[in-house]
Amino acid sequence: MASEIGPGATDVVAVLNSQHDRARAILAELHESVAVVAELTRDMAGPFRELVQLLVAHEAAEELVVYPTLKTELEEGRLAEARMAEEHEAKHLLARLEKMAPGFFDFPDALAEFETKVLAHAEREEQTVFPLLEQRLPPAERQEMAKNFLYVAAKAPSHAHAHSLESAVGNAVLGPVLATIDRVRDSTHPHS
Ligand SMILES: [Fe+2]
Ligand SMILES: [Fe+2]
Repeated sequence: MASEIGPGATDVVAVLNSQHDRARAILAELHESVAVVAELTRDMAGPFRELVQLLVAHEAAEELVVYPTLKTELEEGRLAEARMAEEHEAKHLLARLEKMAPGFFDFPDALAEFETKVLAHAEREEQTVFPLLEQRLPPAERQEMAKNFLYVAAKAPSHAHAHSLESAVGNAVLGPVLATIDRVRDSTHPHS
C-alpha cells in the first residue's frame, strides 16, 4: 500500500499512491456528512414538490378569481395591488427554489455514485498500472515522472470539466502546461 510520501517524493508511484490515499481520506470524511444530508433531502423532495404544486395553483386561482372581485365589486384596489405584489415576489422566489431543487436533491446520490466509481478506479490503477511503472521503468525515469507529475498537478485547472484531455478543450487547457515540461526538464537537467 501507499506510504506517507508528500510532494518531496522522488518516485512517481509514491506520489500517485500518496494522492490516492489523500483522495480516499477526503471521500471518507465527506461520506458521513453526505449520508446524513441524503436522508434529509430524501424527506424534503416530496413535500417540496407538493408545496410548489399547491402554491402555484393557489396563487393563480387567487389572481383570477379573488383579487378581481376585491378590486371591482369590493372596490379595494390598493389592498389587492399590495397583496398581488407580495405574490409576485413569492413567485419569483419559488421559481428560484425550483431551479435549485434538482441539484440540491440529486447531489448526495451523485456524490455517492462518484465515490464508488473513483474508488474502484484508484484501486484498478494501483493493481494494474502502478506495478507496471515499478517493474518496467528504471528508478531514474520514475523520479523524472514524479517531477513532471507534480509540476503539471500544480498548474492544472482547479475545476472539473467534462472534456477529456485529448479533446480540443482539454488540449487548450493543459496544452501549454504540458509544453513546458520539456523546458522544466532542460532546466532541471541541463546536462542530460
Ligand atoms: Fe396569496
Ligand atoms: Fe490515479
